[in-house]
Amino acid sequence: MSETITRVSDYTSVVRERHSVRQYDPNWSIPEAELKEILAEATLAPSSSNTQSWRFFVFHDKELQKKLLPIANNQQQIVDSSAVIAVLADREGFKRLGQINDMAVEKGVMTREFADQYTERAIGMYGSLGKEKQTQIALVDGGLVSMQIMLSAKARGYDTVPMGGFDAVRLVEEFNIPETLVPVMLIAVGKGVGPGRATARLPLDEITFWNGQGLN
Ligand SMILES: Cc1cc2nc3c(=O)[nH]c(=O)nc-3n(C[C@H](O)[C@H](O)[C@H](O)COP(=O)(O)O)c2cc1C
Repeated sequence: MSETITRVSDYTSVVRERHSVRQYDPNWSIPEAELKEILAEATLAPSSSNTQSWRFFVFHDKELQKKLLPIANNQQQIVDSSAVIAVLADREGFKRLGQINDMAVEKGVMTREFADQYTERAIGMYGSLGKEKQTQIALVDGGLVSMQIMLSAKARGYDTVPMGGFDAVRLVEEFNIPETLVPVMLIAVGKGVGPGRATARLPLDEITFWNGQGLN
């Protein structure tokens, strides 16, 4: 606990050194204030019309993490990491656009007239979409913020692992998550024990179609 954490300062190193880590020091606790910094930084991610339709259920309590363990396929990192962040996508997140744009006006980065027009138009547009489309949009935002959580944690010297291996229905039931909040992924954050294992990536040429060439 008294060891210092080595920060990773430049972007390239953060990206290259992030690996999914599944072994954590179970005695290491990241202070809530630092978790808040990680989350706040992550929320600088872009989102559809700046709706910021991500919500976070932070498990920062060993008893609660133990409750989560069987729901997440008994993955040991659930209890050994300092915290597990359940990233949730609010399919009705667009309803807060008025508040968001009011904040932009107060900050002096948007005129009142523009904010009002923007809010009205966007709320009308999102409101007219079905639940499925609203969810799909919020899930994309949730993916973007998730990535930033992992990079922001890495920059502070912490490791993470994103997890899709959990029972979303049980998660929602067990922790009374409102029906409008759809689980995106769980992210364990903590002090990794040893390096994460390196993984391979497909050659860029096989996944990139310059000007559409090679697609068909
Ligand atoms: C949506 C998603 C779900 C994942 N689910 C799990 C999981 O349940 N358990 C796990 O150990 N790793 C999980 N992973 C981690 C991947 O296995 C890992 O990101 C991938 O192997 C690449 O390795 P890297 O993250 O170290 O680059 C998941 C990753 C993503 C993006």
